[in-house]
Amino acid sequence: MTRPYVILNAAMTLDGKIATVAGDSKISCERDLNRVHKLRASVDAVIVGVGTVLADDPLLTVRRVRGKNPVRVIVDGEARTPVNARVLNGSAKTIIAVSKRAPKRKLKELRVAGAEVIVVGNRKVKLRRLLKRLRSLGIRRLLLEGGSTINWAMLKQGLVDEVCVAVAPRIVGGAKAKSLVGGAGFADVRNGVKLKLLSVKKIGKHILLTYRVWGARGASKVR
Ligand SMILES: NC(=O)c1ccc[n+]([C@@H]2O[C@H](COP(=O)([O-])OP(=O)(O)OC[C@H]3O[C@@H](n4cnc5c(N)ncnc54)[C@H](OP(=O)(O)O)[C@@H]3O)[C@@H](O)[C@H]2O)c1
Repeated sequence: MTRPYVILNAAMTLDGKIATVAGDSKISCERDLNRVHKLRASVDAVIVGVGTVLADDPLLTVRRVRGKNPVRVIVDGEARTPVNARVLNGSAKTIIAVSKRAPKRKLKELRVAGAEVIVVGNRKVKLRRLLKRLRSLGIRRLLLEGGSTINWAMLKQGLVDEVCVAVAPRIVGGAKAKSLVGGAGFADVRNGVKLKLLSVKKIGKHILLTYRVWGARGASKVR
């Protein structure tokens, strides 16, 4: 079984931040938000890290255009997703991927709140295994919507096929502000993830950059 085709989408400031030091992540403009909702309507599932759920409490549904809500997938090793999180509002199926470290009682509470909980990994959620599992559930196109930590883990493991970044005409600075990709980072530029520029488009005052990732492995052919 292969994994889904994965598109990483984000909005960042010119200095590469996806949120400010205070956690403000409202970086997209109206036209870019319309594009993101259209993109969501075109995928089978949206995946985020639990850090994004805790910081932004997003809905991850399609609201600005007509279309079907994708399945919502939260990567949440210790089951920290609050039972009253908006991703559990019932408007779409929500899968919470946890590791064996997650407390059993919390898993029960999440299931009662409507989540489908799957255990994928002992200490950490095994991303490649999770993606194969999602593919077996019929998910062929998957939209990765951050944040910084999960973006790094997915890119590092060669699990991203396409990157779409809307660059806002803002500079917010802040050494501790989250950037597009966090994690440990590569020591040498030549070892970084290699990209091929596919298109450059103006969306209002933002610039949308779309790249194909070289050397991504294991995606199904569907795009
Ligand atoms: N501008 C944008 O487009 C945009 C989009 C999304 C988010 N954001 C911003 O990004 C920030 C959140 O980013 P973040 O880096 O704090 O959190 P994140 O990437 O959303 O979530 C990271 C968490 O995922 C969990 N996880 C479980 N298994 C993992 C694995 N195998 N690899 C990596 N992570 C795994 C970890 O928590 P456990 O150890 O508990 O499992 C980890 O701390 C927020 O400020 C949000 O506003 C911005």
